[in-house]
Amino acid sequence: MSLDLTKSGISQTDPGYLAIANDLQGNILTSHGRNFTGQLLVRFNPAKRADVRAYLKKLAITERITSAKQQRADADLFNKQKKAGKVPTQVFFRGVYLTAKGYEALGFTNLHQFDSQFQAGMQASQADLHDPLVNDWEGGYQNEGDALFLFAHGVEPTLRAKVAEFAAFLRDQKLAKVLAVEYGKGFTNEVGDHLEHFGYVDGVSQPVFFTQDTPPDRTNWNPVAPLKLVLVPDPMGTPGQSFGSYYVFRKLEQNVRGFKEMEKSLADALGLEDDDAERAGAMVVGRFENGMPVTMSATDKKVTLKDNQIGKINDFNYGQLIDGHDDLKGGRCPFQGHIRKTNPRGTGDGESPADERMHLMARRGITYGDRLIEPKDEPDFDEMPTEGVGLLFASFQSSIGEQFEFTQKNWANLSSFPFSSPDITGIDPVIGQPAPGEAVSHCFPTVWNDGSPGNMKQFDGFAGFVTMKGGDYFFAPSLTFFKNL
Ligand code: HEM
Repeated sequence: MSLDLTKSGISQTDPGYLAIANDLQGNILTSHGRNFTGQLLVRFNPAKRADVRAYLKKLAITERITSAKQQRADADLFNKQKKAGKVPTQVFFRGVYLTAKGYEALGFTNLHQFDSQFQAGMQASQADLHDPLVNDWEGGYQNEGDALFLFAHGVEPTLRAKVAEFAAFLRDQKLAKVLAVEYGKGFTNEVGDHLEHFGYVDGVSQPVFFTQDTPPDRTNWNPVAPLKLVLVPDPMGTPGQSFGSYYVFRKLEQNVRGFKEMEKSLADALGLEDDDAERAGAMVVGRFENGMPVTMSATDKKVTLKDNQIGKINDFNYGQLIDGHDDLKGGRCPFQGHIRKTNPRGTGDGESPADERMHLMARRGITYGDRLIEPKDEPDFDEMPTEGVGLLFASFQSSIGEQFEFTQKNWANLSSFPFSSPDITGIDPVIGQPAPGEAVSHCFPTVWNDGSPGNMKQFDGFAGFVTMKGGDYFFAPSLTFFKNL
């Protein structure tokens, strides 16, 4: 039974899926869900190629690379134990991803079947993506690595001990040099939703692949996506049975204080006070801090946490009528709002809604960095970090060029997307990277729900609060590939 990648919404028990689930790495079709991660970017020791190959093979054979099937079995057991009131068994999630250089280091020189951006690596796209110069990336990322080992666990000390043990093992065996280690740590609000460092609920809108994960309401936005959004045949696995996915990793530092001060300046410029002030940031992100889409909110008021159960709504689009008004003119969510730039939900310019959807990705990032006062505790400006914290952005896709790069370059960084008139839209105020010397400008509605040009106020401060510190393009190979090494 072969797997049809064009199929949307498959069952976990679909025979075609079950036939590949043991060979596919986990975390691609559903998130591993752990709150703590450790990832090591390494360069293999060229003098030990045979040993490295043997080691990777052993990892796959001994199930120390988590397959999609294993991930689901672990999650089912965890949920069952939790439901029964028992302390759930915490198990490691492990993923192994290779760069094109990594394949070469393992002895594979003919990589023509892989995505061209993957073959070239992230550094080759630096100018195209308006990324900082490679010399300004963090040291470990300036020299391209061969592989990324991802560990995830629910208990932080256990995770950290494992990462330390693994790094020591690589060093002792002289298998690889560790170029960079990143620890991810999930923050949550009072009701357990994950927050990013600017204080907004993250991870709400994701493509969904399994019927079991399908939300009940999907009239206005159906997140169910075909498997081909993220899966491609593994060129070095068993034809028809082995699949993999491209993995983009970017370390994105967040200047929290700078961003929150700018939100306040915007609120002042728009005359928003007290409870209304939160709308300034909500228009920048596209959702209120509790996850409520600005477009869906029938009121200009801050949506309080007691409404949080409805905060994470994702069944919406910008043409939908709320209280008799659509949001096609950006009177509630301006066109530059981060979630509108990165998913226009059928209101982008020039592409059919079906084509537009194919630029989305399965986002698997996690926040990093320690802070004394967490976002949920509403720190004062001088208690907010300006560096050392951020997002370990990660995404799975079937084409780096058509998904991650398209989103960053053609949507987030492009001032004229989706519109250049009557006002230019401006870059994405969260992740947009202007061209060198390009001025940044945005327009925000001064009166709620009124997107007419006369109601728009120019405000120029939103850029540069997220800084790319390094990253690379990887492939998550099938387990068969590792077993055949
Ligand atoms: C530090 C950097 C970033 C921050 C703080 C951030 C924050 C957020 C937040 C708060 C949301 C709303 C929650 C949700 O809908 O899941 C969101 C959604 C999203 N972000 Fe980001 N993000 C960052 C980087 C990126 C990058 C680099 C990309 C892609 C190039 C991206 C693409 C998206 C997409 C596609 C959505 C979902 C939009 C939708 O479907 O409505 N984000 N982000």
